[in-house]
Amino acid sequence: MTDTSNDQRRMYGDLAWTWPIVSRKENYVEEAEAFRDAIREHALIPAQMLLHLGCGGGHLDFTLKRYFTVTAIDVSEDMLALARRLNPEVAYQPGDMRSARFEQPFDAVMAGDSINYMLTQPDLRAAFETAYVCLKPGGVFCTYAEETVERFRQHKTDCFTRAQGDVAITFVYHSYDPDQADTTYESTFVYLIRRGGQLQVETDRHLSGLFPLDTWLRLLRDVGFQVAQLEFDEDNVPMFACVKPFEEVPKC
Ligand SMILES: C[S@@+](CC[C@H](N)C(=O)[O-])C[C@H]1O[C@@H](n2cnc3c(N)ncnc32)[C@H](O)[C@@H]1O
Repeated sequence: MTDTSNDQRRMYGDLAWTWPIVSRKENYVEEAEAFRDAIREHALIPAQMLLHLGCGGGHLDFTLKRYFTVTAIDVSEDMLALARRLNPEVAYQPGDMRSARFEQPFDAVMAGDSINYMLTQPDLRAAFETAYVCLKPGGVFCTYAEETVERFRQHKTDCFTRAQGDVAITFVYHSYDPDQADTTYESTFVYLIRRGGQLQVETDRHLSGLFPLDTWLRLLRDVGFQVAQLEFDEDNVPMFACVKPFEEVPKC
């Protein structure tokens, strides 16, 4: 049983107001274009209607909406509020990627830096099942594994400062896997928030899923997808373009 008592996720709750400061929508353009290209290249049907699982503050959608008609879900009302403000054209609704269902199927489904919140194999599989069920035959699901067991580095640390108006935030990030026998690792965030000469220090802890690359491929194929493995960004993160076949292949 995964112990989630340290999975605070304040970044998507009381600290969500910091998201547009520490995370810039401009930094998501390249990733959104990688999704656009993978969808266009691999879909076997024209791809116009896109479902985005785990849309966060809508920074990916800011670019995606130029190319697709976007419907997007997230479990955080605070992040959905930011997304709605940034992208009034997008149909946002609360929903969990492990269980969300829709009346109409989509041409394409995607999940970016939200799929890493699937902490167990059953959860990861459930998210893949949502994508499969919500797609038209010939449609494509695109996602990526930002961390895998093979790629994970202990004590990855990053630090930067961003400012907006009278607020400056120095953001420190650290990741660590305390137990290599389970399927999660920890990320710790420290926020040094300066406003009008006052310093406010906040901390946040998140759990993320950590699976071998083979587990991603096996679970995607198990739910019925035909999977092509791609790479994106300069770190060669494994990306998956997963087609829902026109005819279901009977499982032995
Ligand atoms: C890093 S943020 C995504 C940011 C986003 N790429 C953007 O463009 O702004 C990760 C998001 O995943 C969401 N999330 C985590 N678990 C989820 C789940 N089970 N279903 C839907 N969304 C989930 C969180 O609420 C959070 O908003």
